[in-house]
Amino acid sequence: MDAKDKIKRALAQEKMWFSDAYATKGIRQSAIGNRQSDPTVNRPLPTAKKAKQLAALYEQYKGCLACPLGKSRIKFVFGVGNPDSPLMFIGEGPGYDEDRKGEPFVGRAGQLLTKIIESMKLTREQVYIANLVKCHPMINPKTPEVRGNDRPPAPEEMETCKPILLEQIRIIRPKVICLLGSTSSKAMLQTQTPISKLRGVWNKLPDFPEIDAMPTYHPAALLRNPVLKKDVWVDMKRIMARLAE
Ligand code: URA
Repeated sequence: MDAKDKIKRALAQEKMWFSDAYATKGIRQSAIGNRQSDPTVNRPLPTAKKAKQLAALYEQYKGCLACPLGKSRIKFVFGVGNPDSPLMFIGEGPGYDEDRKGEPFVGRAGQLLTKIIESMKLTREQVYIANLVKCHPMINPKTPEVRGNDRPPAPEEMETCKPILLEQIRIIRPKVICLLGSTSSKAMLQTQTPISKLRGVWNKLPDFPEIDAMPTYHPAALLRNPVLKKDVWVDMKRIMARLAE
């Protein structure tokens, strides 16, 4: 069975997803793999070159102090995953756990995102995960040891940091981007439309009109309001169908 068949089979499966009862065992086989093995995908850069360019980008910005977030961060949270993935997730910015680990989406919301990805018959390693801003926005930067000291990034922080993300997208060139939550969706789609109206609808990214972008609710919103999970699953199935095309 090839990668697209696996995604189609996952789509046909209506099992409740990312509930505690969801069994992920035995589904870690490659559903996306490496796009170099798929001759139908038009890739501007081979994987090794993408990885090298991402590493160079990280080196260029890892010590960034261009906005106040740079002074209070513990770790610069660049992004993780497969540089050749056709699917990229973009969140808002690192929180307490991400700031300490230097990796996006590793806290409670991140664990839920991992379950969502696994429900799509994928792994974190097969997709690429990044944020709009790379340093932890804190309500009070003088108390970094306090949990729950998170806030959304300010408009000028997003503007300062966005070129790094745009460069990541330019290198990876995914087929589909999933925008996680209101902040990321509004910033990337350059709109003020509420996430409740944006979600579930395909968009073209103004900066990359050839990439399909699907906004959905942020995993943190699902933790606060689990009723939203069913909408997110609808959105993930749309993404899986697009990946399988
Ligand atoms: N929320 C985000 O938007 N990004 C993270 O990395 C973690 C939580």
